[in-house]
Amino acid sequence: MSSAFDIAGQTAVVTGGGRGLGLGITTALLDAGVAVHVLSRRPPDERIIEQAAENGRRLVHHELDLSDRAALPRLAERILADEEIDILVNNAGTQERHPAVEFPLESFDRVIDINLRSVFQACQLFGAPMVERGRGKIINIASMLSFQGGLNVSAYAASKGGVAQLTKALCNEWAPSGVNVNAIAPGYMDTEMNTALVADPVRSEQIMVRIPAARWGNGEDIGNVAVFLASGAADYIHGQIIAVDGGWLAR
Ligand SMILES: NC(=O)c1ccc[n+]([C@@H]2O[C@H](COP(=O)([O-])OP(=O)(O)OC[C@H]3O[C@@H](n4cnc5c(N)ncnc54)[C@H](O)[C@@H]3O)[C@@H](O)[C@H]2O)c1
Repeated sequence: MSSAFDIAGQTAVVTGGGRGLGLGITTALLDAGVAVHVLSRRPPDERIIEQAAENGRRLVHHELDLSDRAALPRLAERILADEEIDILVNNAGTQERHPAVEFPLESFDRVIDINLRSVFQACQLFGAPMVERGRGKIINIASMLSFQGGLNVSAYAASKGGVAQLTKALCNEWAPSGVNVNAIAPGYMDTEMNTALVADPVRSEQIMVRIPAARWGNGEDIGNVAVFLASGAADYIHGQIIAVDGGWLAR
């Protein structure tokens, strides 16, 4: 493989990197020879910790609730005191479904707080040293609802629209310093976040017929694109929201 795709020896931070799409991203980075700090409320599955150790990879779990805005800077300071972070993946996210007229404001605030404020805060904390160093890769996880409005998910759609705009805003400020800020917009993915959708035969069929690739996506689909965006091969990609959706948006 061309050295432009080689990211071995680098260090990444992945929020929510212990399950779902985050686990796919963590796994792909580990496979590419990257040391990964997972920031999440619960530790990743034992299997991935054992597998990483067996393969001589470094996987470090840090317990963190991203709704605690004071805890994130404390943790970032601890991590950055010991090493440089080359790659930041803001993957953690949450979903709450209610019709707009009944949407509890506390729920709205919670979704915006986790999905948008914490992303900005992590970008600031881990991005500042990248800007100073003149090198770094930030990958935010957006959504189809960065482009579409969805149904009964007004807070989530607002937060993911915000993630897309934040990605562009930070690109404009940080690209001149050699920091790439991009986003991946996953399509419909078979993870815990969508358990209700997958289990609903009517909704899951409606979704499936709109996916040209004729399958739901998975963590590997997203992890591979994250590795590409983290690599030198993507050095001239800035401020993009890359749909990884089996063709959903093309339909
Ligand atoms: N599943 C999909 O179809 C889909 C589609 C588009 C975008 N996404 C986005 O992909 C990302 C990953 O989602 P997923 O499908 O793997 O969902 P998931 O529910 O399986 O995982 C979400 C992750 O975020 C973490 N998280 C949530 N709240 C947190 C908090 N307060 N503190 C720390 N961590 C927290 C969870 O612990 C978990 O690791 C999210 O940003 C989601 O919005 C998912």
